[in-house]
Amino acid sequence: AIAPSAVGSMGAAPMATFATSAGSPRRKVAVLGAGGGIGQPLSLLLKLNSQVSQLALYDIAGTPGVAADVGHCNTKAQCKGYEQDKLAEAVRGCDLVIVPAGVPRKPGMTRDDLFKVNAGIVKGLVEAVGKHAPGAILNIISNPVNSTVPITAECLKAMGVYDKRKVMGVTTLDVVRAKTFYAEMKGLDVANVDVPVIGGHAGATILPLFSQATPKVPLSQEELEGLTKRTQDGGTEVVQAKAGKGSATLSMAYAAALFADSVLRGLNGTPTMEYTYVDSNVTEAPYFASKVKLSTEGVEKVFGLEGMTDYEKEGLKTMMPELMKSINAGIDFAKEAS
Ligand code: NAI
Repeated sequence: AIAPSAVGSMGAAPMATFATSAGSPRRKVAVLGAGGGIGQPLSLLLKLNSQVSQLALYDIAGTPGVAADVGHCNTKAQCKGYEQDKLAEAVRGCDLVIVPAGVPRKPGMTRDDLFKVNAGIVKGLVEAVGKHAPGAILNIISNPVNSTVPITAECLKAMGVYDKRKVMGVTTLDVVRAKTFYAEMKGLDVANVDVPVIGGHAGATILPLFSQATPKVPLSQEELEGLTKRTQDGGTEVVQAKAGKGSATLSMAYAAALFADSVLRGLNGTPTMEYTYVDSNVTEAPYFASKVKLSTEGVEKVFGLEGMTDYEKEGLKTMMPELMKSINAGIDFAKEAS
């Protein structure tokens, strides 16, 4: 079988090379919400990943079709679709569960507007993971990520199975966008570009640190502000361009596949570095996205913030009230609902 040996989102030339999978351990990965705009292309990309041996595709409807389709790709992973009440079966034995279930934004909506619907969906799915696959790593994509990750953590805490190393909010798309926009503006080879993005995953809480971008190219204040704003509004750019037909799905599937690849590499004994939204002591916010080291148990180390410019420190200060509000909304929801 051929499958991409993707280098994590912090590495170069992702998905560019192909490698055989000889010797890698068996890994079961589930996608919850696999019939959706993100779920379908993400399922395809995971089917191409040589680290995946079993791929469970769950949604409330439509997944036998997705699984039959994706399953015809001549790669290693055994692919099976699960619907409706088959959630327990889908997640049982999983090493990694990826959650893109829930409604996406329409023009004019913020990610917080999705809270009402998606909070309940995420809670239900996480409870099933806590019950049937308590050791699995969870990658949460469903928005608002700033709240759905705290909801995930609180649900698992209530069940007595929370391990902070295993719950990650997927913010890779923000990194992917920052790299693309920076490389485009400065005429760089995007394969060699790195841009840290910290904070959360909504508007002003998305904080790219262009002062630490590599290769380092001087930016005027106007360019810096333009790039920062474009990274923060990248999701809205797609929502508007799709004009009512949803939000980022293809670039998101790509980003989630990169992140999942890094998680699996870590599990398989090759530590990787990623930016992700996790349980954190880096700031006063109990959940925060920063650089982490992923290894055999998930998040091995959360790195602190260093060398930020005054402009970036101001951005951090500005985001805090919004970030804290979203975190608290998630915690309150999980507590009230339990
Ligand atoms: P979509 O509407 O195309 O797909 C969502 C899927 O979830 C549907 O197939 C639906 O049937 C399924 N679903 C709903 N309730 C479910 C349940 N209880 N169990 C299992 N499946 C369920 O939406 P799309 O575009 O795929 O987006 C999904 C989520 O990802 C949205 O919340 C969106 O805001 C978020 N997103 C996150 C990004 C990030 O960077 N973290 C970027 C882009 C979108």
